[in-house]
Amino acid sequence: MDELLNEALAGLRNAADAPAIEQWRVEWLGRQDGRITKLLRAVREQPQDERAAFGAAANRLKQELEAAFEGRQEELRRSAIEALSTTSALDVTLPGRPQTLGRLHPVTQTMRDCIKAFADMGFRVAEGPEVEWERYNFDGVRIPQDHPARDMWDTIWVNTLVDGRRQMLLRTHTSPNQVRVMERSEPPIRVIVPGKCYRQEATDATHEWMLTQIEGLAVDEGIRMTDLKGVLYEFARTMFGSERKIIFHHSYFPFVEPGIEMALDCFICRGNDARCGTCHGTGWIEILGAGMVHPEIIDNAGYGSDRYTGFAFGIGIERVALLRWGIEDIRHFYANDVRFLSQF
Ligand code: DAH
Repeated sequence: MDELLNEALAGLRNAADAPAIEQWRVEWLGRQDGRITKLLRAVREQPQDERAAFGAAANRLKQELEAAFEGRQEELRRSAIEALSTTSALDVTLPGRPQTLGRLHPVTQTMRDCIKAFADMGFRVAEGPEVEWERYNFDGVRIPQDHPARDMWDTIWVNTLVDGRRQMLLRTHTSPNQVRVMERSEPPIRVIVPGKCYRQEATDATHEWMLTQIEGLAVDEGIRMTDLKGVLYEFARTMFGSERKIIFHHSYFPFVEPGIEMALDCFICRGNDARCGTCHGTGWIEILGAGMVHPEIIDNAGYGSDRYTGFAFGIGIERVALLRWGIEDIRHFYANDVRFLSQF
């Protein structure tokens, strides 16, 4: 048996290609006339007392040769691949070319995280048009024509006359959707409206002429300022962590009373630089306006301000993104520089 084993293994080592090892396989392990097959058939010709030992040894030999055959086959397969890499123009050992994967724009990522924060608090998502009527963008939120508050929103008008007058514009904020949502629903209302807004503005580190906002609106019986503060605190905690400092300032917006602004501490100068381009020396960066919905707006919706109250807020998503990543200039977002965008 040992001699057979040595002879077979030597033969296998000499078989240098696929046809050669196939020939070897037929010679040794072939089912009809293979030498091992014959050996096994010869078991019954052995003297009675040697049969068992002979059979066992023959079987062991068969297993050893099968294993050697598979090993040799694998060896040849590998060396064939290696040979290809040196002899052919196709180097199969080179690593593949990685696919460059795209990713979501940092403002989109931030938008989605904000939406999730409010969705978790029970707000549903609605949408409204970017090309808006003047009566929703301004009149409906208590900013009639010639009202000085219109100057707070430098408007890009659509140059189409309706009844001899320009009445369409690129919405300057998402607030018109307060009116749109109230028109088509009944309290209780908890809704957020994300979307792009446009302003004819000189850009600087914290202002762009296109911006992204999320409008929030809740109307119900018994809604109070503390509800608003609770929701905004929870939002800030989700987005910035509980360490981050938040401040509420009083502010004026025609559609709320009282009105507030929420600001976060300036990560650039920490309030120590009077010429800071981000906080202008105040130490705070405003990220949203909010307040209790003006009773007149609740009445215009036909709800009755004696019964219903509500709060509203409008968040600047680019500002949130600036603060969460410590970006010093809002204009990076829309400059289309992949070196910037690929960092998020
Ligand atoms: N629409 C305001 C803006 O764009 C932001 C705002 C302030 C929205 C107060 C609100 C609010 O809903 O209550 O400047």
